[in-house]
Amino acid sequence: MIDLDGIAGIRDGIVPPAIYSDPELYQLELENVFGRSWLFLAHDSQLPKPGSFVQTYMAEDPVLVVRQRDGSVKAFLNQCRHRGMRICRADAGTAKTFTCSYHGWAYDLGGDLINVPAEDAGYHGEIDKARWSAHKVPRIANHKGFYFGCWSESTPEFADYLGDMAFYFDAVVDRWDGGLELVPGTSRWVIDCNWKFASEQFASDMYHAPIAHASAMLALTEDPAFQVFPPYEAPGRQFAGDGHGSGGNWLPVFPIPEPTFGPVYTEWLAANKEEVFRRIGAERAHKVWAHNTIFPNFSWLGQAATMRVWHPRGPGQIEVWAWTFVPRDAPDEVKDAIRQGNQRTFSPAGVFETDDGENWSEIQRVLRGWKARSVPFNVQMGLGHEERDVHGLPGKTNHVYAETAARGFYQRWSDLVRGLSWERIRELDERREAEEVRPA
Ligand code: FES
Ligand code: FE
Repeated sequence: MIDLDGIAGIRDGIVPPAIYSDPELYQLELENVFGRSWLFLAHDSQLPKPGSFVQTYMAEDPVLVVRQRDGSVKAFLNQCRHRGMRICRADAGTAKTFTCSYHGWAYDLGGDLINVPAEDAGYHGEIDKARWSAHKVPRIANHKGFYFGCWSESTPEFADYLGDMAFYFDAVVDRWDGGLELVPGTSRWVIDCNWKFASEQFASDMYHAPIAHASAMLALTEDPAFQVFPPYEAPGRQFAGDGHGSGGNWLPVFPIPEPTFGPVYTEWLAANKEEVFRRIGAERAHKVWAHNTIFPNFSWLGQAATMRVWHPRGPGQIEVWAWTFVPRDAPDEVKDAIRQGNQRTFSPAGVFETDDGENWSEIQRVLRGWKARSVPFNVQMGLGHEERDVHGLPGKTNHVYAETAARGFYQRWSDLVRGLSWERIRELDERREAEEVRPA
């Protein structure tokens, strides 16, 4: 396995490539990173009534997320306590109970074991069902209809974990009086790359956009204003929530070429902008609408109306689970225009999405080389040019063409994968903030 001390100072922006390919490190990530972070589970709109459920994953662990009769949401490991069969094999639906298809143990909506076949004849009435419930996700947080789960009792509360990221997350999820909904159905696809390439890119990387997406921009519009998009001299900023595990990116909203979402959407947006301004302020509404990652693997892209989880599947593969988000109260034709715009741009066959996946999977192929795995990467753009609490933006920010959020992402990852306690991480964060290089 790679030398863990070698990744302690990763915030200097020198990244050893073995972190993307090492199988032993990956097992540590599952336990120390994903096992101690808040992970996105589901959105309110996916669980409309009591008994509604979705099956998802917390990293590689399958979980069922279920609306309870009292309206609350619970989650538990989708693993039968008898021999470990997946309790529920449906992706989503409505249930009164969940019955294992192997020998028939049945669980209620909260995951408690309620029925065991042959309880008298086979178990002689001696099985204590209360002891053999499905393993519960002990902590669930609801942030504006977005449910996150955490296995660890020592991880900070979700609001604390989110920190300054709440300002940027809410600018996307709290724009509308009626809230958001996810268009029914999940797009899923597999990319042969390490999960960190995708998470980091959505946290931090605007740098690839004018190059990697150049042909897609040309396909969308012949307007020369979009041929380097966003312009390198753009006044955008990038946010790096290194405090409690978030990373992000924002820039002043650039007009996306009309063919992306079409006039139905643009006109409706213009007619309803006062609602957004009232809720989050005009400046924030215009500026905070780009891509972000809530550490470790929940990302979104405002302009393209996509949210997704990068589920890790070994060191060299991810399963992307993506949703289109729409304002819940928008008319159907507007929701449809957003859905179609999202399909054209950031779906499995979207013109932008395929650019990204091709780069990530090709990097992963290069990393098959023994020598290629030993040559460090440069993640240093904008190092030393960070600022705090400027331009009315909370937290640490930098020019949008920077890798500050990437360094925050890797530092948080490094702290967790090395097994540092959250108390120790908090101490280190305070010290790092005090030692930050500040431009004169
Ligand atoms: Fe589920 Fe046997 S594995 S009842
Ligand atoms: Fe991209």
